[in-house]
Amino acid sequence: MIRVEDLSFKYTGAKEYSLKDISFKVKKGEFLGILGASGSGKSTLCLTFNGIIPHSIRGDFRGNVFVKGYNTREASVAELSKIVGLVLQNPDSQLFNMTVEEEVAFALENLGLDVEEIRRRIYWALKITGLEGLEKEFPPNLSGGQKQRLAIASVLALKPEVLVLDEPTSQLDPIGREQVLSLITLLNKEQGITIVLVEHNTEYLFDFADRIIVLDRGELVMEGKPREIFEEADYLRELGIRIPISVKIGAELKRKGLLEKAALNDKELIKALKALLKS
Ligand SMILES: Nc1ncnc2c1ncn2[C@@H]1O[C@H](COP(=O)(O)OP(=O)(O)OP(=O)(O)O)[C@@H](O)[C@H]1O
Ligand SMILES: [Mg+2]
Repeated sequence: MIRVEDLSFKYTGAKEYSLKDISFKVKKGEFLGILGASGSGKSTLCLTFNGIIPHSIRGDFRGNVFVKGYNTREASVAELSKIVGLVLQNPDSQLFNMTVEEEVAFALENLGLDVEEIRRRIYWALKITGLEGLEKEFPPNLSGGQKQRLAIASVLALKPEVLVLDEPTSQLDPIGREQVLSLITLLNKEQGITIVLVEHNTEYLFDFADRIIVLDRGELVMEGKPREIFEEADYLRELGIRIPISVKIGAELKRKGLLEKAALNDKELIKALKALLKS
């Protein structure tokens, strides 16, 4: 679905490359997590998936990004946006219409769809994001979680095959965060939408990502299944990445010779602790 080949990018005027010779693939239906400390290049990478880089934000762009076979150098942002939906950190910056319904309709109006199809898509997008009944609401009056789900609904209405979300929960309270994360899981597992998610909630990535890539100062330094990634807890800590509590405890118990492997999720840790208490 996405193929990144030897990608390097330096913003115009910047001294350093923000992305350095990165290569990886995302398969159809896959859930890819992206981890990395602040400034490691996560957002820059996300902006290359729908062509904003290099079309709208310029710089020295090397290598290639292919989306469903289209080279992003050649396809326009408008074309790529039908395949890749991008959701950003701050929901307020993505909403600018008077009602929830108009917000979702807005993205559709330039597609040249008939009125019935537009209506169907609005209904579907609001239903799946749990915003049914709020059609006439003024977006600024929604809760943080609702606003972010509305931003997702507006992108979903375009029926993208890939959803790229750049820290979509970092400005939300715990309830809003939970709502948005469970929506992302549902879109991946039940709608088959390919997900690329930048998220600091590593517990969530442990449980739901199929694969994780780790960036450090623009370089791709690790790639693997969540368990393989979190097995390297010490290295992640060096890179400034938050480690799930269960992994921290697991690593401590492993160090003390009480457990065989460190990378455990919550459920596995509880099971292991129960077994330890019994023995
Ligand atoms: N518009 C820009 N012009 C110049 N340099 C930029 C620009 N945007 C980002 N950078 C630089 O590129 C590097 C990567 O930034 P990026 O925003 O991609 O990191 P990030 O991993 O998303 O960080 P965060 O976790 O803080 O969101 C940083 O060194 C940053 O200063
Ligand atoms: Mg960022």
